[in-house]
Amino acid sequence: MIEHLRTVRQSAKTIALVPTMGYFHAGHLSLMEKGRELADHLVVSIFVNPAQFGPGEDLDKYPKDLERDRELAEKTGADILFTPDADAFYPHGYESFVVLEDLPHHLCGIHRPTHFRGVATVVTKLFNIMAPTFAIFGRKDYQQLMIIRKMVRDLNMPVTIIDAPTIREPDGLAMSSRNSYLTPAQRVQALGLINALENARKQVGDGELDTKALINNAKFLIDSHPDTQIDYIDICDPETLETIDKIEGMALMALAVKVGTPRLIDNMMLCPPGIG
Ligand code: PAJ
Repeated sequence: MIEHLRTVRQSAKTIALVPTMGYFHAGHLSLMEKGRELADHLVVSIFVNPAQFGPGEDLDKYPKDLERDRELAEKTGADILFTPDADAFYPHGYESFVVLEDLPHHLCGIHRPTHFRGVATVVTKLFNIMAPTFAIFGRKDYQQLMIIRKMVRDLNMPVTIIDAPTIREPDGLAMSSRNSYLTPAQRVQALGLINALENARKQVGDGELDTKALINNAKFLIDSHPDTQIDYIDICDPETLETIDKIEGMALMALAVKVGTPRLIDNMMLCPPGIG
């Protein structure tokens, strides 16, 4: 791939990379469209990265459909689909990892302690292989986006990180490859996530700035569904991801909820009256 991209660079001035784990939905395709607009050459990677899954997580049953993904990527304008295999990426004796000291110790990182080390490492490997001009990430995985931005800044990586909005189903559920795990009954209950976020946004707009009260209301809305189990609901500073008690400027509400077995995440910016 490194050799191939060297040749590509002779005619393409800019390369955009969209890293994914595959099983494409409209969220992934929106990132590819953005990459297509920004750069001369679009590279999409599919790699279900073992380093970012913890013990007992869904690595072995992560959904896959390479043929369908290949067609969708091609239709959306990808020039290269890169699908390395795990043994090539992490051969026997592999021992180098990228670790951030603070940002991973919030939100999802508390519940998935090795997850962001795996993400930062694989994204670094992809950046080293592709040397992209732009790399595009979704705000749906807000903490991941912030960690990658910070890593790029801290380590002087010569790539521009572009973010893209969360694409949702018509009823508001954030698109995710993991939605395919939901039974029809769980699919209905999964709306608890967006309902809780929308409700908080409305309450903040109406002047409720106490995060405990907002989180309790969100808990109540989600707990009203029988198959949901809350991993966390937090309201935090959108830059540092530190939990806040009172909303004084833009704040991020983020949550992770198991609906049956699948664990879903979502987030939304909360904006108090008079700001933004
Ligand atoms: P994956 O979950 O496949 O997501 C790939 C990219 O699509 C990420 O940038 C993610 O934020 C974005 N995305 C997912 N759902 C979205 C939605 N509903 N709207 C907009 N964008 C969405 O995230 C990963 O893979 C991996 O951690 C990866 C970065 C590839 C590293 O292994």
